[in-house]
Amino acid sequence: MEMKLFDTISELDHYAAQLFAATLNHKPHATLGLATGSTPIGIYEKMIEMYRKGKVSFKEATTFNLDEYVGLPENHEQGYAHYMRQHLFAHIDLPSEQAHLPNGNAENLHEECEQYDRMLTEQPVDVQLLGLGHNGHIGFNEPDGSLQGGTHIVELKEETRVANARFFDSLDEVPKQAITMGVGSILKANTILLVVKGADKAEIVKQALTGPITTECPASLLQTHANVIVLLDKEAGRLL
Ligand code: GLP
Repeated sequence: MEMKLFDTISELDHYAAQLFAATLNHKPHATLGLATGSTPIGIYEKMIEMYRKGKVSFKEATTFNLDEYVGLPENHEQGYAHYMRQHLFAHIDLPSEQAHLPNGNAENLHEECEQYDRMLTEQPVDVQLLGLGHNGHIGFNEPDGSLQGGTHIVELKEETRVANARFFDSLDEVPKQAITMGVGSILKANTILLVVKGADKAEIVKQALTGPITTECPASLLQTHANVIVLLDKEAGRLL
């Protein structure tokens, strides 16, 4: 596991965006695994900046997002499809048919999960971007006695709904379920880029990276992957 600590968030975002750009410049048809939440926003901004300066193109790339809420109206502002359009897709040259997110409104959610896994098998992820939940979740893989490998439907933990309620008008509006890539699918990525920012995540960063490998902290399973790059701002890394 390679770890990098940054003095400023801007430097961290720049480094991560550069890494994606380098991947695409080396392999224009690369598959990128993308994430949502507040953590990647700055990285996407830098990627857009690089695209505008002609330093990277997404024309031949394919992207897969980690997760999506179940049951939010299609254009809901807090849906991850909307988030991706707003923060990245609307500003770059990625053809929309090459951008994939699980469909949280599919008629048959189980079939949707299977279909997503089939696509991931056909186009394995080269670089997977990951944020970290306060309880150690990655994607929406919540701490539990056991975890599922493939894409599946999850019941969101109350603490995750409370954490994400800041983006909604009220806690009641936060969906109770989501579709997420499983930890098994995430670990199939060639390279994993785990990005964590902020003092409030310092404790879970320490647990995930140096504590026991346990399904009660899904991010700890990243310790089993051969090619994980961890990017931390100095607050998130202060307990290491
Ligand atoms: C959300 C997302 C995760 C994200 C995490 C942290 O629930 N499903 O993919 O990494 O929570 O979010 P944030 O970056 O806003 O702290």
